[in-house]
Amino acid sequence: MKILVIGSGGREHALAWKLAQSPRVKKVYVAPGNGGTATSPHLHNLPLTDIERLADFCVAEDIHFTVVGPEAPLAAGIVDHFRMRRLRIFGPTRGAAQLESSKAFAKEFMQRHAIPTAAHRTFSDPAPAHAYIAERNCALVVKADGLAAGKGVVVASTPEQAHAAVDDMLERNAYGVQHGAQGARVVIEDFLEGEEASFIVLVDGRNVLALASSQDHKRLRDGDQGPNTGGMGAYSPAPVVTPEVHARVMREIILPTVQGMAADGHPYTGFLYAGLMIDRQGHARTLEFNCRLGDPETQPILMRLKSDLVQVLDAAIDSRLDTLELQWDRRTALAVVMAAPGYPEAPRLGGAIDGIPEPAEDLQVFHAGTRLEDGVLRTSGGRVLAVTALGDSLRMAQQRAYVGVRQIRYDGMQFRQDIGWRALKR
Ligand code: AMP
Ligand code: GLY
Repeated sequence: MKILVIGSGGREHALAWKLAQSPRVKKVYVAPGNGGTATSPHLHNLPLTDIERLADFCVAEDIHFTVVGPEAPLAAGIVDHFRMRRLRIFGPTRGAAQLESSKAFAKEFMQRHAIPTAAHRTFSDPAPAHAYIAERNCALVVKADGLAAGKGVVVASTPEQAHAAVDDMLERNAYGVQHGAQGARVVIEDFLEGEEASFIVLVDGRNVLALASSQDHKRLRDGDQGPNTGGMGAYSPAPVVTPEVHARVMREIILPTVQGMAADGHPYTGFLYAGLMIDRQGHARTLEFNCRLGDPETQPILMRLKSDLVQVLDAAIDSRLDTLELQWDRRTALAVVMAAPGYPEAPRLGGAIDGIPEPAEDLQVFHAGTRLEDGVLRTSGGRVLAVTALGDSLRMAQQRAYVGVRQIRYDGMQFRQDIGWRALKR
């Protein structure tokens, strides 16, 4: 059978790599793909992004199913469109994807269904937003409403920073956010203390199957300093997600979300990612929902998945997730992201990449921002590679990943030296 993966990042390389391991799969197309998917066995890049043409391709090539990596095509309604044409696809509809595409939708949804999250208000006018900041008198987080490629969130430790963020978002759209139908809006919420984790599940409209837990590192520099990025590294499992925390998150957050979406007329299908803040007592609150897999969390999670992902996604598309159990490698997986010089503000691209180690049972280098040009591999995006390793302990996975990282060369490469530090400190 033939499968189509939509997207071009490290997450999509990992998805395609895993799907291609199924004995039933002959070819995995990746649209548009990257330099890694261009050169891996059984993977083929497809230079298409238009939804209609992708659907035509699926008909012409008899694609068994399509799985969508990034949020943009989901928010644009690719799932609704494919279903209208009776094509098998795994992901949320446009309506359900609002859980990610609108912070205001997500917060109102959580409030309505009593799902634990930070106290918040939504504003479209600057004056009442400034008044709320003055009156709230605590550390706040200001979030632009709309798709922002991970950049529309300002953690304000002082009221001045919060006021400035409101002006940047409502008066100038300084972060280049893609606004929804209601125009520019901001969500202002209380700052929550604790440790973050990524909790990702598969949903078939009704049934839920949890993936292994994970944690990513959003800041650019060691010790979680510097600007926020899409993610500089990740590992699975996340020790902060104990069995008790896991059970609680399923009961208090995931199941009410799936039931609430169905009750509200947007039955959820696809990967659902809850970004959690977990406090010292093990209470979890939802920071955000994503309607997709995390990047780079997917790379370590899929390194550990032993089950056949084609069977799993078939069951999900056919609403049979209640018949499955996932098998996991007991080892820890850890991914170190290698980024381009100047990332995240102004990545400088085009440099030649050398020394990528050969894949091994315990090491895979997933490509993100790379392209193949006349046989030369070059950087083409802010996050370039995710060097992902398995080890019997987190420390061993970390050592193995950094052995891989040290073999790779390109001008100005940036990476963190401390991926996994929170888990090692516990
Ligand atoms: P978001 O896109 O909403 O997940 O926000 C991006 C990052 O900002 C999160 O991963 C957190 O590190 C931080 N953040 C967001 N909301 C809060 C909050 N209420 N309290 C503390 N940190 C937050
Ligand atoms: N690594 C965070 C995300 O995928 O949103």
